[in-house]
Amino acid sequence: MKKDLLSIQDLTKDDIYSLIDRAIELKKRGRSAERTLEGYVLGLMFDKASTRTRVSLESAMLKLGGSAIFLSKSDTQMSRDETVADTARVLSRYLDALAIRTYSHESVEEMARYADIPVINALTDLYHPCQVLSDLMTVKEKKGSIEGLKIAWIGDGNNVANSWIKAADVLGFNLSVASPPGYSPLSKALEGSGQNVRVMEDPMEAARDADVLNTDVWTSMGQEEQRLQRRHDFKGFQVNGTMVGICRPDVIVMHCLPAHRGEEITSQVLEGPNSVVFDQAENKLYIHQAILEGLILR
Ligand code: CP
Ligand code: NVA
Repeated sequence: MKKDLLSIQDLTKDDIYSLIDRAIELKKRGRSAERTLEGYVLGLMFDKASTRTRVSLESAMLKLGGSAIFLSKSDTQMSRDETVADTARVLSRYLDALAIRTYSHESVEEMARYADIPVINALTDLYHPCQVLSDLMTVKEKKGSIEGLKIAWIGDGNNVANSWIKAADVLGFNLSVASPPGYSPLSKALEGSGQNVRVMEDPMEAARDADVLNTDVWTSMGQEEQRLQRRHDFKGFQVNGTMVGICRPDVIVMHCLPAHRGEEITSQVLEGPNSVVFDQAENKLYIHQAILEGLILR
């Protein structure tokens, strides 16, 4: 594996399958997993909210025998203009890996450039690679394999969608992304994609015969002032019973959470028989264990 995990593009196909296999093994072992990270310390620097990613990363580290230090960016000297480069070099002397959740993807790239330790993207405005790795693990668990499936993304062309696109580029599965006009994934995220990635504006076309139906919030962190406009613009892109009805009968419905019931997904679908959202959330713990081992012990 490369030193850092900033985007799915940092991984090869073999890296992705090895991480998923290791995560599945760690899940099976549960409390009997070896303490492979004893004596190692992970720092978490977050300046956006998080429930799942923060807690599962901290817990992953503790369960493998290591420790974790949570740093709210506003409590560090970065809030008083200490540079990313200086922070990266200092933290590299104390920590064995650093996970960052922030707005600008470029600032995480800069941190990785100056840090001697692995830097993990725990979500930026552009990508959320760890999320999609645990989602892929969930697909593998539920469907047996990822290849040959039709995976649909319904809604905003956001950080999670962009990471799904990058995963389709590396693994080659068929991905249909349907977003309202003006909300398609950025051309930067689509650069280099092949014919297996289709971008469209008709959500029913994307969902038809899908094996996996994926969505996310219409308003991501940092976009709160656009919420009313987005609720208007995303009408017709709700994952609801009608949409699930045109997918394959054994479709799995995924959402990285947190969800806004009644907006991007109905409560009936989220709580319904096709939904795997809580298994998907659980898998973050195991994929994070595999990622931390992969990067720290590489
Ligand atoms: N899915 C996810 O990243 O959730 P959190 O924002 O709670 O970390
Ligand atoms: N797209 C969402 C994902 C949250 C896990 C956001 O960035 O807020």
